[in-house]
Amino acid sequence: MNVLDAIKQRRSIRAFQDKPIEEEKLRRVLEAGRLAPSAKNRQEWRYVLVKEKELRRKVAVACNNQYFIAEAPVVIVGCATMADYVLTCGQPAYTINVSISMDHMTLQAVDEGLGTCWIGAFKEDEVKRLLGIPQDMRVVEVMPLGYPRFQPEPKPRMKLEEIVFYDRYR
Ligand SMILES: Cc1cc2nc3c(=O)[nH]c(=O)nc-3n(C[C@H](O)[C@H](O)[C@H](O)COP(=O)(O)O)c2cc1C
Repeated sequence: MNVLDAIKQRRSIRAFQDKPIEEEKLRRVLEAGRLAPSAKNRQEWRYVLVKEKELRRKVAVACNNQYFIAEAPVVIVGCATMADYVLTCGQPAYTINVSISMDHMTLQAVDEGLGTCWIGAFKEDEVKRLLGIPQDMRVVEVMPLGYPRFQPEPKPRMKLEEIVFYDRYR
């Protein structure tokens, strides 16, 4: 699939079929994340794949009771090992690195006929406790992965003219 086609087809999926993900599809999604770029090639991303049904439900509760998360057969929890590195520009590297990696996954998921949803509303301490993630790590994203029940309508986006400036910001 053409990359722009995958970008255009991707939606936030909030309803999943009760259908397992083929192992080779799951591996290709993870591979897309593994190959992502990162500042100084630190690759501080680590992924906990939550498959147990009851654990998925508990993770969904820790995500402000967003129960649709538990419908997905796999919930990928994106973490970072080294949260201390700050880029010269002042941004913490780990949030950017993990986000790029997981965005790669969302696009590969589209190519596999799978759906994802970025979940930023979660109680980090609770997710860490449930999954045994060490205190000195950070959790960046929770991402359900599975077969969508339906393809939602696209959400509106701003026009290029509204967001792109040439030479000077105005
Ligand atoms: C950083 C971030 C956090 C988000 N957190 C949530 C969330 O907790 N729950 C949810 O249902 N959607 C969440 N979303 C999905 C957005 O609502 C969604 O991407 C946006 O409305 C655009 O819709 P689309 O992804 O279908 O194009 C999040 C997206 C991002 C990028």
